[in-house]
Amino acid sequence: MKILFLNGPNLNLLGQRQPEVYGKTTLGDIEANVRGKAAKLSGVEVDFRQSNHEGELVTWIQQARGNASVIVINAAAYTHTSIALRDAITAAEVPTIEIHLSNIHAREEFRHHSMIAAVCRGQIAGFGANSYYLAFEAALLLQAK
Ligand code: DQA
Repeated sequence: MKILFLNGPNLNLLGQRQPEVYGKTTLGDIEANVRGKAAKLSGVEVDFRQSNHEGELVTWIQQARGNASVIVINAAAYTHTSIALRDAITAAEVPTIEIHLSNIHAREEFRHHSMIAAVCRGQIAGFGANSYYLAFEAALLLQAK
């Protein structure tokens, strides 16, 4: 199975960006950790990407159709604005898990609404870098059923 991790804008700055909110772990550290977990299993492939561009994320979601078993997406600020990402997730027909490092529901009101939540299988938010590792486990469970 292939798990596609997609990361939206400003997540390349993890570790330096508001560490009190997002933690000190870099995206590279998270990727290495996820890859380490996958390496211990047989037949689990990980593709891990980040983009600051909405259209690039849309393209990657489109390309996941028929290619990825599960998408794990931290759409970052596009979570709250992007009908394009929502439509791409719907069109891709790949089970998708929405994740956030912070608990978006406990933050500013504009972060409470997710444009993509309704077209995802579920949401994991508020566990810092562990949100990624929990999503990895959730992706395995989705595939196992
Ligand atoms: C985020 C939460 C979003 O509201 C914010 O715009 C981000 C990161 C998170 O992982 O907590 O960039 O998706």
